[in-house]
Amino acid sequence: MASFHFRLLLYLSLFLLLLQPLFTTANLHKTRNLLKSNLIAEHTTVNETPPTLYFEVTKPIKVPNTKPCSHLLLHHDFGYTYGKPPVLANYTPPSHCSFDKFSKIVLEWKATCKGRQFDRIFGVWLGGVEILRSCSAEPRATGIVWSVEKDITRYYSLLVKNETQTLAVYLGNLVDKTYTGVYHVDITVYFYPAENDLNNHENGMDDLVSGYGSEADLILPISRNLPLNDGLWFEIENSTDTEVKEFKIPPNVYRAVLEVYVSFHENDEFWYGNLPNDYIAANNLTDYPGNGPFREVVVSLDGKVVGAIWPFTVIYTGGINPLLWRPITGIGSFDLPSYNIEVTPFLGNILDGKTHKFGFSVTNALNVWYIDANLHLWLDSKSPKTVGKLLKHNNALLVSLVSNFKGLEGTFLTKVNRSVSSSGWVKSSHGNVTTHFIQDFSYNNKMVMGNDGNLQIVNQTIHFNDSVSAIKQSSNAHSMKSFRLFSIYLYSDSLDQGNGTSLEVSNVTLGFDEKISRNAGFGLSGSSLNNLQNGQGEMVVKNNLVVSGLGSTQQVYKYHGNEFCYFRNISSSNYTILYDKVGYNCNKRTKSQFGFSLRNGDLFRQIHLF
Ligand SMILES: *[C@@H]1O[C@H](CO)[C@@H](O)[C@H](O)[C@H]1NC(C)=O
Ligand SMILES: *[C@@H]1O[C@H](CO)[C@@H](O)[C@H](O)[C@H]1NC(C)=O
Ligand SMILES: *[C@@H]1O[C@H](CO)[C@@H](O)[C@H](O)[C@H]1NC(C)=O
Ligand SMILES: *[C@@H]1O[C@H](CO)[C@@H](O)[C@H](O)[C@H]1NC(C)=O
Ligand SMILES: *[C@@H]1O[C@H](CO)[C@@H](O)[C@H](O)[C@H]1NC(C)=O
Ligand SMILES: *[C@@H]1O[C@H](CO)[C@@H](O)[C@H](O)[C@H]1NC(C)=O
Ligand SMILES: *[C@@H]1O[C@H](CO)[C@@H](O)[C@H](O)[C@H]1NC(C)=O
Ligand SMILES: *[C@@H]1O[C@H](CO)[C@@H](O)[C@H](O)[C@H]1NC(C)=O
Ligand SMILES: *[C@@H]1O[C@H](CO)[C@@H](O)[C@H](O)[C@H]1NC(C)=O
Ligand SMILES: *[C@@H]1O[C@H](CO)[C@@H](O)[C@H](O)[C@H]1NC(C)=O
Ligand SMILES: *[C@@H]1O[C@H](CO)[C@@H](O)[C@H](O)[C@H]1NC(C)=O
Repeated sequence: MASFHFRLLLYLSLFLLLLQPLFTTANLHKTRNLLKSNLIAEHTTVNETPPTLYFEVTKPIKVPNTKPCSHLLLHHDFGYTYGKPPVLANYTPPSHCSFDKFSKIVLEWKATCKGRQFDRIFGVWLGGVEILRSCSAEPRATGIVWSVEKDITRYYSLLVKNETQTLAVYLGNLVDKTYTGVYHVDITVYFYPAENDLNNHENGMDDLVSGYGSEADLILPISRNLPLNDGLWFEIENSTDTEVKEFKIPPNVYRAVLEVYVSFHENDEFWYGNLPNDYIAANNLTDYPGNGPFREVVVSLDGKVVGAIWPFTVIYTGGINPLLWRPITGIGSFDLPSYNIEVTPFLGNILDGKTHKFGFSVTNALNVWYIDANLHLWLDSKSPKTVGKLLKHNNALLVSLVSNFKGLEGTFLTKVNRSVSSSGWVKSSHGNVTTHFIQDFSYNNKMVMGNDGNLQIVNQTIHFNDSVSAIKQSSNAHSMKSFRLFSIYLYSDSLDQGNGTSLEVSNVTLGFDEKISRNAGFGLSGSSLNNLQNGQGEMVVKNNLVVSGLGSTQQVYKYHGNEFCYFRNISSSNYTILYDKVGYNCNKRTKSQFGFSLRNGDLFRQIHLF
């Protein structure tokens, strides 16, 4: 039974094999020598084909009309880096930028690679605080180039801290005779001064409201400490594994938000398609990732659940069919989303100057999940001590599973609802403010197995609703609601061609929809995003080797915000852009306005970096 799942598993196990530190010292030396000769070979190759530009479709970053001050943080060539310490560099705020305040700070990761290589997960940490989680692009023989730009203004206090901090970058890459790609990376931060003084950071709005609009005063890392021969993330290996970090907060915190970074790998890379254990057992299947298709990340504080995360199903650049993601990469793959949990209601429990613990676990997890977090704290500048109390705290999980199969064919329905809520007050110089935090989730996964186990259809939706409201003397000082809908539809079939060859067909639809609304007392604001990708892929596989293949992707991205709108309708097939329409019109029915192409230049840089 040479099913897609076997194939998938094979590609995956190769990845696994490469990720395991299996090498004896002798082998390691051998591999290192190979790495050397590979590099030499590449440098001496004359190649006139320009590198292909890979990119993720996303809105440009709105920056002020001022000249940014650029600060190169790191240049590094990531060759054989797996199982080695992260690459470290000293960071101090740029001394050559003579501005008091910046209104925007943008991180740029720019990389090139040539040859053959797997997709590699990587992270960037400053002082232990994670500022980027991303996946490398898979190169081709003629070379590729890509860049990721991320608005990191949120980490303002960290970035301007007048002391030397450690920048750590972990990208576990392996290089050998077959996998030759070395990643050449530049990390630069652009500091944008405010357009005028009125526009800058602390513009003296109501202090409490500014606490919601502006960045935290202090960010504590909730990650593993260096030294490490790995990323600073915690590794969750199974469903009972809880990874814990101790921390202490200052006595005058009035707001706290935990920002969590999540990525899933190896046996859980495609968790939404993992088979139910009863099906695996009944069919005597071995080496199949199981535990069914439901996962949730649970975050606890001193053992109490403070929030959950039902992650977006990011497909990495080598996932399902690598040809789908060239050059348009999967939603979120170059800049994995992080998720916020409002911890303010719990402040009363942790303002005692003592050590407390955040814990991370993943329901149904298989090896491995990489999780860590940043604790954003707002400090009361007018008082040395705040006080608070947790008033209410609830959480509930409801699961329903319907399995219906005969042999290798069947249908599986998984439905889950979850809610987490908390309320608590904090008294600071801003007054006595009660904060309510509510999360509501619903999950629906329909999986069909057919064609003697070779066909799999997965249709999954996640609704992820959040609300935070801060109430001061019975008037709403601030409230925020977000609605997210994460959807994935995956159709994959393996068609035996009868001559040791099979045709692997995989169609994917990936949707990331988000609506955010804020009420800050003096007005409403909000944004909405509809981001939808469709992909169709085919691969001819002979003796477990991909002989040929084709991938096509269409994407429609619609963003509607207070400050600007952005629309893009783009498609690629076999490395070529078929059409690309970009618009900035805020009309209800955003029609394409411009027709420029990204093929020949880095348009994004022009829009938001210069
Ligand atoms: C940064 O710290 C150094 C030494 O601690 C001090 O001399 C310098 O004035 C500080 N710079 C700023 C901008 O605060
Ligand atoms: C789960 O993972 C933890 C952490 O690696 C390990 O200590 C524990 O033995 C594992 N449990 C099972 C049931 O494998
Ligand atoms: C699974 O293995 C058991 C024990 O070897 C055997 O009785 C059963 O028929 C097998 N089932 C299938 C579907 O192969
Ligand atoms: C989840 O909630 C919906 C609507 O609130 C309900 O129809 C459904 O039965 C619930 N599912 C489970 C598994 O409890
Ligand atoms: C703050 O407000 C809450 C809810 O109204 C109240 O129970 C609590 O006693 C107040 N705390 C202080 C210190 O006034
Ligand atoms: C999330 O909010 C949307 C829009 O109000 C609603 O339709 C949906 O039922 C909500 N989902 C959950 C799980 O609360
Ligand atoms: C996936 O399921 C949703 C309902 O959960 C349904 O509306 C949608 O049409 C399904 N998609 C496909 C492609 O079958
Ligand atoms: C295998 O057979 C299919 C038709 O069944 C044919 O199209 C294909 O070229 C053959 N492939 C090889 C590698 O022989
Ligand atoms: C997969 O995509 C191809 C190309 O668009 C299409 O012809 C085919 O019908 C799709 N198959 C399924 C099951 O969606
Ligand atoms: C995107 O462009 C394609 C090709 O021109 C067109 O068929 C499709 O309707 C467009 N989609 C949207 C949402 O504008
Ligand atoms: C894809 O493009 C390459 C050239 O870049 C070409 O050699 C190949 O035949 C194309 N494949 C298909 C299936 O169109």
